[in-house]
Order: sequence, then C-alpha cells, then structure tokens
Amino acid sequence: MAMNNIKVNDLFSKFEIKDMNDWENVGADLIITDPPFGIEFSGKNGNYHRKVEYVVDGYVEWAKEEYGKKIKELLVCIEKNLNSNGQALIFSGWNNSNVIHDRIIEFPGLKLMGKMYWCYNFAPACKVRPAHNVYEIFWVTKGEQWTYNLRCNTHHCKKGEPNLTTLSFKRDYKVRMPKYPTRLPFRLLQCIIEHFSNKNDLIFDPLCGSGMVGIVAFMLGRRFVMGDLNPNGKTVYQSLLDYYLNKNGLIQDQTLMRWWEK
Ligand SMILES: C[S@@+](CC[C@H](N)C(=O)[O-])C[C@H]1O[C@@H](n2cnc3c(N)ncnc32)[C@H](O)[C@@H]1O
Repeated sequence: MAMNNIKVNDLFSKFEIKDMNDWENVGADLIITDPPFGIEFSGKNGNYHRKVEYVVDGYVEWAKEEYGKKIKELLVCIEKNLNSNGQALIFSGWNNSNVIHDRIIEFPGLKLMGKMYWCYNFAPACKVRPAHNVYEIFWVTKGEQWTYNLRCNTHHCKKGEPNLTTLSFKRDYKVRMPKYPTRLPFRLLQCIIEHFSNKNDLIFDPLCGSGMVGIVAFMLGRRFVMGDLNPNGKTVYQSLLDYYLNKNGLIQDQTLMRWWEK
C-alpha cells in the first residue's frame, strides 16, 4: 500500500510523548493498553533469543512497591478518557495480575466483564527452565451499550469454534529492525479490535510503547490516538509504519512466523 508523506506525517503525530495522567477527555470508544509488569523488566535480559542491540532503551518500568498506585492511576486515565459507553482491554503479565484484578474490582465507574488469556510463543530459549507464555487481558466497561462483534477475520474465528477465553497468536518478530520490548503482534490486536470495536471508532492507548495498537487500528479503518513517555517508542513506531504501510509487512509477517520450518 503506497502512502503519501502527508498521510504518514498525520499518523506519526497521533503518537504523543506524554504521561498517561495528562490525557483529558479523549472520548475513546475502546482503550487497549498494556501496562509495565512491575518486575524490573527492561526487555534486555540475557535469556531473550534476539540481538539485544536492536532493542531500544527508555522503557519506563513501574516498581513493585508502587504497582497498585500506578494501576489505580491507569484506571483513572481509562475512566476519564472513555466515552460513556466505552470499554477497555487491559493486558497483564502473570506476576502482578492479582493487583490489577483487585484494583479494577474496587474502582468505581468501571465494571469487570471478564478475562481472556493470550497464549503465545516465547522468545527466551527454554532449554534450561520452563517459560510462561500467557498474558491475561481484563475486559472492563463503563456503560451498558458496549460493542461486541461475533466474528473477526483472523484464524481465531476462521478456523474451528471461536473461543473468546483463549486467544492463540504467535508474536511476529521482526529482523534487522529496531525492537520494542513487549510489542504486541498484529493479528492478536486485529482479533480484539474487530471483536470490540466498529469501523471509524476511536481507539486509545496511553502506554503504547511501539505504537502497534495505532498501526493495527489504522489498517482496520479505526481512528486512534496514543502516547508513551519513551521517545524511542516513536522511533520503533516510525519503522513499523514504514513496514506495514509501504512494504506489505503483513505478507512478510507470514514468512517470519514460519522461520523454524527453514
Ligand atoms: C508493556 S509496554 C507497552 C508495549 C506496547 N503494548 C507495544 O505493543 O509496543 C508499557 C509502556 O508503558 C510506558 N509507560 C510507563 N509509564 C508511563 C506513563 N506514566 N505514561 C506513559 N507511558 C508510560 C513504558 O515506557 C512502556 O513503553
């Protein structure tokens, strides 16, 4: 898909370097967000099976002691930036998901509707110890008229019986490109965006990292806005925009995701 420069500049400006607490009245239909894990994570751990020099710096982690407070701030950000019938999907690694669960339950103005599990292939070489490969996704709503579409266009609904509890999607690792720790894969985001929003809806991610939520939202005809404190996330976003908008990245993804068959 060839994009003119004006369009790309417009997409680029939708990623703001901004603290999640500073957003006001975004009026989002859907928030998809993936908070830091609270485990002193940097994405540069030696057990990752990837070239560390490609991983950008600047990821802002949350300390374990402040995790509950930060999650509460995130819920305030979600509540004030959703429209009256908006909803949010909050990702969580397994270590501190109990904290997220408890904070949502006690938070007035948002209702916990359910939880999904994303199962994925894990990057660290798992020869010496077992590796966990599940994220939890908390589904919360603000009003009563939230959107849910029965079918998406990924293998999740195209093959076998759709099962909204377990989402199995591989990570779409990129080679020789700047990497953002914990970047979410395209097809997983496609699955949840198609199920939980309609075309032209406004999607918001206040902790966007590489900006992958915005890229997939745009490719699926949704509007988006997003932010992160890490300017290096925007560097990754720029190369991902180039990859997905100009270079037919989705076809390249299919090849990359079958690397072990070579
Ligand atoms: C798990 S990562 C998000 C990765 C993202 N989902 C992706 O696909 O690339 C969490 C992000 O939250 C950012 N962050 C932490 N505290 C923040 C804050 N107060 N405001 C904005 N961003 C923040 C970190 O810099 C990090 O990029």
